[in-house]
Amino acid sequence: MKLGVIGSGAMGSGIGQVAAMAGWEVYLYDSNPEARSRALSQISESINKLVSKQKLTPELGVAAFGRIYACEQMQTMADADMVIEAIVEQVAAKKSVFEALEQVVSPTCIIATNTSSLSVTALASALQHPERFIGIHFFNPPVLMKLVEVIPAIQTDATLPMRIQKIIESWGKTALIAKDTPGFIVNKVARPFYSEAIRIYEEGLASPQEIDFIMMQHGFKMGPFALMDFIGHDVNYFVTESVWKAFYYDSKYKPSLAQLKLVEAGYLGRKKGRGFYDYSQELVSVSAVEDSLSKSVFMRIISMLVNEAVDTVYLGICTEEAVDLAVKLGVNYPKGLLEWGHELGMQQVVNTLDELYHFYHEERYRVCAGLRNLAKL
Ligand code: NAI
Repeated sequence: MKLGVIGSGAMGSGIGQVAAMAGWEVYLYDSNPEARSRALSQISESINKLVSKQKLTPELGVAAFGRIYACEQMQTMADADMVIEAIVEQVAAKKSVFEALEQVVSPTCIIATNTSSLSVTALASALQHPERFIGIHFFNPPVLMKLVEVIPAIQTDATLPMRIQKIIESWGKTALIAKDTPGFIVNKVARPFYSEAIRIYEEGLASPQEIDFIMMQHGFKMGPFALMDFIGHDVNYFVTESVWKAFYYDSKYKPSLAQLKLVEAGYLGRKKGRGFYDYSQELVSVSAVEDSLSKSVFMRIISMLVNEAVDTVYLGICTEEAVDLAVKLGVNYPKGLLEWGHELGMQQVVNTLDELYHFYHEERYRVCAGLRNLAKL
């Protein structure tokens, strides 16, 4: 089988490598020639690493690399079975790629986008045959991350999501189907992990060190502040802002001024040496927090997360199994959020949110209908 990848940056090169390791022939195209050669050297480096860690035999590594071709023109993809686009996150640029691509590939070639924040349905509208178009959202880095979200546009042929799911699973990944909704599954469901943590900090109720400590005590590999510093505040703020705007400014997704200030200052996190933490100084961690503070911080954050996960299922964006798998594989949560909610008791989660709602009189704390129904069971 033959895959075309358009845009050979961080995501495109990783996606190409995944497909090549699964036996597909891969044609990488990028409008920037330097990006094409950089992609080949990054793939070769990544394959060598897998070989040295004995995750891949040297023979399979050589064979996989031999199946990847950097090409100077999209024309080379004429007989591709599928093409995945991974260029800059801009509607106009993506649409013009799809228009050009449809002139080159066969009418049955599947065309996909790796967008993480744009409407798949809006992108599909650029195609003459939108029924063959779909979102295939890999996580960064594609070679290591197990999760892939598969997002049909409203124009997509009804049989395509299952076909894609099979292909992606044959590439060794877990593919979950999601409705075309802002943030899809993970980038929507995970928002409160960041936003409620920042809110607690903005109110002066706990410091980033304390909040990170509390969440790690509950099994998270990184606390929200360390994680935002790791992701980069430019990226994390952009995702929050785009989900908020796309949901018609629903206040539960509202970005925070504290994070905006970091972006404005250029304190983008680890990559700049400073974010919520200052990495030029020795980091002072917390080793104990008062019980009542620990309980209230954890319950606030986890209740917001459970509410969002239940709402996502209630609105038919994905299944119960998918929402729990998505956070375990996409953001490394120690447990699924529905599983967590049931363990804590859904009524307890409702009580926590209702108390916050009555105290603050803010919409962000509203309990979704699905959660009220579950609590009644
Ligand atoms: P990147 O900036 O590393 O790579 C984009 C590549 O596209 C560049 O090499 C650029 O030269 C090329 N390009 C730009 N316009 C082009 C055009 N018209 N034709 C051909 N090539 C073109 O970006 P990255 O991070 O790989 O992201 C690519 C896509 O994947 C975006 O849609 C992004 O939202 C999405 N995505 C990114 C994730 C991430 O964590 N970086 C995670 C999941 C999705």
